[in-house]
Amino acid sequence: MRGKVDECWDECCYNWGEWKYCLLCLGIVVAIVLIVVFVAAFGFVRHIDVSVDDASLTRFELATSPVTSLSYNLSVTLVIRNPNWAMSLKNTKPLEAQYKFDDQMFDRFQLADKGDKHPAGKTRVYHIAPPGTTSSVMLGNAGEAEFRKENATGTFQVEVAVAGEVRYTARYTKCKIQASCPLKLQLAPPGTAAVVFQKVTCKLAKAEKNC
Ligand SMILES: *[C@@H]1O[C@H](CO)[C@@H](O)[C@H](O)[C@H]1NC(C)=O
Ligand SMILES: *[C@@H]1O[C@H](CO)[C@@H](O)[C@H](O)[C@H]1NC(C)=O
Repeated sequence: MRGKVDECWDECCYNWGEWKYCLLCLGIVVAIVLIVVFVAAFGFVRHIDVSVDDASLTRFELATSPVTSLSYNLSVTLVIRNPNWAMSLKNTKPLEAQYKFDDQMFDRFQLADKGDKHPAGKTRVYHIAPPGTTSSVMLGNAGEAEFRKENATGTFQVEVAVAGEVRYTARYTKCKIQASCPLKLQLAPPGTAAVVFQKVTCKLAKAEKNC
């Protein structure tokens, strides 16, 4: 590539009288550079990075009557980064975080609305800190057994899932976003020693075709 350009340059510009060819040559070089930059900017999608940088669980209680419900205080700091340097993301569906226990969703939160943009190269930090909540949940026998097992250890496995759909700048296809962040949370009721949380990198579901 470089050799060819040099050769062209030498032939065209050896004689400065041939300035027309010299301009043509320059034009070709500029066009090639523009194409390379364009492909680098929009040709490849880099997928978002999702992580949970902080989380704290101060209450997690199961009640089985009158209905199965979880009463919980769980706050989470979710960090989403768009690593593309030229492509921004636009939500084509609301972006949502879900709390799950034993694969059953027990609460969900909207992080960003449909139409919201996540600019190129930017990191967004979402603090999910609902007031203490009781929500009904379908755990079934197996889920309740799992709860009792984890309750005995004082450490709960809660999943934070991120779900949405986006479109990248200059792309037509809409791409699903599905990330799973498995957390191991030691219950720390107020008054007990604070628990240090180790950052968790979330796993993205395999991208669909053209995404
Ligand atoms: C849970 O949250 C509620 C309301 O935000 C608060 O009143 C309560 O003290 C919290 N409980 C625990 C154990 O953190
Ligand atoms: C969970 O453990 C606490 C004490 O550690 C206990 O009081 C509570 O009854 C347990 N909950 C269930 C549903 O087993």
